[in-house]
Amino acid sequence: MENLVISVAAPKGGVGKTTTAVNLAVGLALKKKKTLLIDADPSGFCSSAFGYDEEKVFGNVIDLYKHSKNVNEVIHKTELSFLDIIPFEKINYTEEVIFNNLTVDRNVLRNAINQIKNQYDYIILDCPPFLYGSTVNCLIASDYLIIPVKSSKFSLEAVDKMMKFVNEIKKVENPNLKVDGLLLTMYELNTKASFLIKKELFQLYPNLMFKNTIPKNTSVAESTFYNKPVVLFDQNANASKAYISFVDELIEKHETFNLMQISGFGNVDFLDEEINNSENVNSYS
Ligand SMILES: Nc1ncnc2c1ncn2[C@@H]1O[C@H](COP(=O)(O)OP(=O)(O)O)[C@@H](O)[C@H]1O
Ligand SMILES: [Mg+2]
Repeated sequence: MENLVISVAAPKGGVGKTTTAVNLAVGLALKKKKTLLIDADPSGFCSSAFGYDEEKVFGNVIDLYKHSKNVNEVIHKTELSFLDIIPFEKINYTEEVIFNNLTVDRNVLRNAINQIKNQYDYIILDCPPFLYGSTVNCLIASDYLIIPVKSSKFSLEAVDKMMKFVNEIKKVENPNLKVDGLLLTMYELNTKASFLIKKELFQLYPNLMFKNTIPKNTSVAESTFYNKPVVLFDQNANASKAYISFVDELIEKHETFNLMQISGFGNVDFLDEEINNSENVNSYS
């Protein structure tokens, strides 16, 4: 078992965090990786991708922060045998303030996850669009971070802010946190803006770019009306194919990394690593 904890985070809303977390988790489960998806965003839309009826939710992330339930009591099964989920109850503004106050205990998620980590290949955390509270808890609990980057002008700023924040977390609370990579989302083929942001990112972070990019695709919005992740809604949609391909890339990357560690390459830091080698820069620029 891989036992990896991966946060999907960026200090910006609407960049494809939830879509990525959900479809990544489903994609991993389809590849028979035992996966847990944790909805760590107080605006809680992750669980709605599975059509969860609020009445049937018997425990959620807030219960962990309140210490009112044990982590095993808030795990829900899904229609996929390899995928479990910890949902987030839909809350109003006042409850959100109360929740944010609870997150000053920065180790709640880490402690909860440590109790169940050995039961899963992958634990995926869908973070809110800010760099405090719940996100800090997620990053402290994580081995890796995936940063979705929407192909638009203001994305570079968000990436820079995220990278600086990762360094802070690494220094103080979680030296093991590594950036798994940057994933371009809502990519529009044949638009200059998308092309420019891609080019700039490959120049700035050549070793951190995932080879796969997720295209902008109307099936994603459509799938939300049916409460289904796009990879289950329409496997042939362009975004679905891209997410599945991305899942393969991620699994391969971690398996290669594991092999390198086993065969004595030691504790290679992904940030310095050349798995996404410089070929990518040329092929995209
Ligand atoms: N590849 C895509 N193509 C088209 N629309 C997308 C794509 N990815 C996400 N969206 C849409 O963009 C919006 C924001 O995505 P979401 O994943 O909720 O972002 P975040 O979690 O970062 O706020 C949603 O309405 C979602 O359906
Ligand atoms: Mg979201």
